[in-house]
Amino acid sequence: MGTVGTGVIRIVQDSADLLAARTGRPIAISAVSARTRNKDRGVDLTAYGWEDDPVALAKRGDVDVFVEVVGGSDGPAKAATEAALAAGKPVVTANKAMLAIHGQALAELAEANGAPLRFEAAVAGGIPCIKALTEGLAGNNITRVSGVMNGTCNYILTRMENSGLPYEDIFKEADALGYLEADPNLDVGGIDAGHKLAILSAIAFGTQVDFEGVQLQGIQEVSIDDIRRAGDMGYRIKLLGEARRTDAGIEQSMRPTLVPATSPLGQLEGGTNMVVIEGDAVGQIVLRGAGAGEGPTASAVMGDVADIARGLHIPPFGQPAASLAPATRAAAV
Ligand code: HSE
Repeated sequence: MGTVGTGVIRIVQDSADLLAARTGRPIAISAVSARTRNKDRGVDLTAYGWEDDPVALAKRGDVDVFVEVVGGSDGPAKAATEAALAAGKPVVTANKAMLAIHGQALAELAEANGAPLRFEAAVAGGIPCIKALTEGLAGNNITRVSGVMNGTCNYILTRMENSGLPYEDIFKEADALGYLEADPNLDVGGIDAGHKLAILSAIAFGTQVDFEGVQLQGIQEVSIDDIRRAGDMGYRIKLLGEARRTDAGIEQSMRPTLVPATSPLGQLEGGTNMVVIEGDAVGQIVLRGAGAGEGPTASAVMGDVADIARGLHIPPFGQPAASLAPATRAAAV
């Protein structure tokens, strides 16, 4: 019941008729769980059941689909997700860290119990890039997935460029605006974006998630001089993720990178995300939108809930977990 959970409640309350028309089934909240019960979240929860323990929520008989928007790779989020899957219940989660680290084990658990596990909201918030890869682009050999997948870093780099102020000042500004993760190093160290890239790479190339294989570099060392010099040459600096299939294996990197100022990535401002996918049949597609926030993230969660209500049952990583090979890493470049 944080930002994203509140957004999910709001969509269910405001768009019940739309969701029923689109899925052919009524979608309603049975019960909710949060750390604090008596807090004004701006949505009315009085009609719903309550559980202090998310694991108890996952096990309730009146819960058909469990939505996990707690966050954190382990702890209550993972315990509750496992409890729901073990009981054969579909799970929708926004938890990029959990999937980047435990994705293979959770996919195997989901498939062993016949339970869908969906996580569109885990990567690039409101941009339906996982659905694009698993559904719309299923007929393509994907050659490359790249993009800007952390809105906070894109905000910081854009603000440094526009204001001429150093990293430390803009970091404080982002903190004051509430943009940073509880552990800011997840954002500025590139880890959060690395988690997202590892998830997309696994889906794109049919491998197990290999977060350890992502060459990571954060934005902490980017200076105003770097940004100015890049600008003089017609480039901008972005925290760019790239996953490529090469003859030597899969290459994954997330690091500050020069992009041409006139390219779609070079025109990306503020907290926005962009995912660029290249496939042998489709060529290149560019997806752009809000990568975080209540509405966009809840939008992705509800898209997954709607798919489950429609009876769509796609393997979590786009193909059966047992057929996902361990990722072969290309040598570091
Ligand atoms: N900290 C993340 C970001 C939140 O800035 O993009 C969304 O995953």
